[in-house]
Amino acid sequence: MQCLRYNKASLFMENVALSELANEFGTPLYVYSFNQLMENFNRFDAAFGRYPHTICYALKANSNPTILRTLAKAGAGADVVSGGELFFALESGIPPEKIVFAGVGKRDVDIEAAIKIGIRGINVESEMEYDVISDLAERLNRVAPISLRINPDIDIHGHPYIATGRHGDKFGITNDAALALIEKIKRDDYCDLVGIHAHIGSQIKELAPFKKLAEYMAGVAKKAIDSGHRLEYVDLGGGFGLDYENVINVDIDAQGLDDLVLDPQEVISIFVDAIKDTGVHLIIEPGRALVANTGALITEVLYLKKTGDTNIVIVDAGMTELIRPSLYSAHHEIVPLEIRDADTMVADVVGPICESGDFFARNREILNIGRGDNLAILTTGAYGYTLSSNYNARPKSTELFIRGKRVKVIRERQSLEDLWTG
Ligand SMILES: Cc1ncc(COP(=O)(O)O)c(C=O)c1O
Repeated sequence: MQCLRYNKASLFMENVALSELANEFGTPLYVYSFNQLMENFNRFDAAFGRYPHTICYALKANSNPTILRTLAKAGAGADVVSGGELFFALESGIPPEKIVFAGVGKRDVDIEAAIKIGIRGINVESEMEYDVISDLAERLNRVAPISLRINPDIDIHGHPYIATGRHGDKFGITNDAALALIEKIKRDDYCDLVGIHAHIGSQIKELAPFKKLAEYMAGVAKKAIDSGHRLEYVDLGGGFGLDYENVINVDIDAQGLDDLVLDPQEVISIFVDAIKDTGVHLIIEPGRALVANTGALITEVLYLKKTGDTNIVIVDAGMTELIRPSLYSAHHEIVPLEIRDADTMVADVVGPICESGDFFARNREILNIGRGDNLAILTTGAYGYTLSSNYNARPKSTELFIRGKRVKVIRERQSLEDLWTG
């Protein structure tokens, strides 16, 4: 996280000391860096050079309205997976022609809304869904722009919960089904085949699966074009991996590190090289790679104890604020906002929720800390707040946006009345 640095043992995001924010706004607290967000977006955008493209940000990673408006202003489109996300994308100023709609279980009302609004493409994830979209378009007397989500059977060698492009995963359709649909759609007055889509999973850290994907999809795109469709785009999804471990050195004057595992320039060159013969527009759908390293979750140490041989540090954030460690055994670095002691301890860092699965780290070497110290759980800008919940009647946290020295509240903490009345 290049937006972070220690300045004489105090952790700063951009030009703001995070302990001042913890004192002022209370914890748990989400903080995000404006400049890191822009840097991430511009890096991907520049990687395309002059090749026509749209970066359809995957809203599921972080759908805070201010973050969405910032990306919309920078020129991003949106990858949405529900009527709610479609609403958010439009409210944030993303034009319909830059919105693509994925998801294996779209409701009829959401498909109708997408057709009426005139979005760029609705991804078809099953043959039955195609029939439903075609019927709904006929009833509305409109032509639905559709894109086939292909399941290319490519293994990304990651956690099974974030792999989406192998046969047996619930996403997309097989090559054979896609070829049959390519023929069928030619005879359909209410659907236009405008795109080919795939998203093979998250946290991809090697070039090989991306290369395989781009070449495979170029083949499908050529078949669609040869069969007479005026294909407009190929969408290669998201999944660009981040290094969650080498984020910042715990050092009295350390600067945060670059945490994208693959250089976007290298990946996008592979995409452009594979697709350019078809001449179609390229879409990518990064979520994590645009926002994960913009964010940190600030929490306060409540208690320390020992059970058996295990040191346990209990903090005031829990799986309600950040569920990734419980859900996928995800690793997040944990560092103090103020370094007071260079010695370390080995401990489990856990939350206050009444679940044994409520933890942030197990058996982790961390700097010595005590009751009342504040900690930053790093790389939490993606799949943090959006996966948060009110379990145990816990209000959702404040979110802050930091730009240089300026701090803006971009979401207020929920009140107990908010929880009670829903
Ligand atoms: C269809 C689709 N596109 C894009 C993404 C974003 O993935 P990532 O955040 O890994 O870039 C996802 C994540 O689940 C997805 O399902």
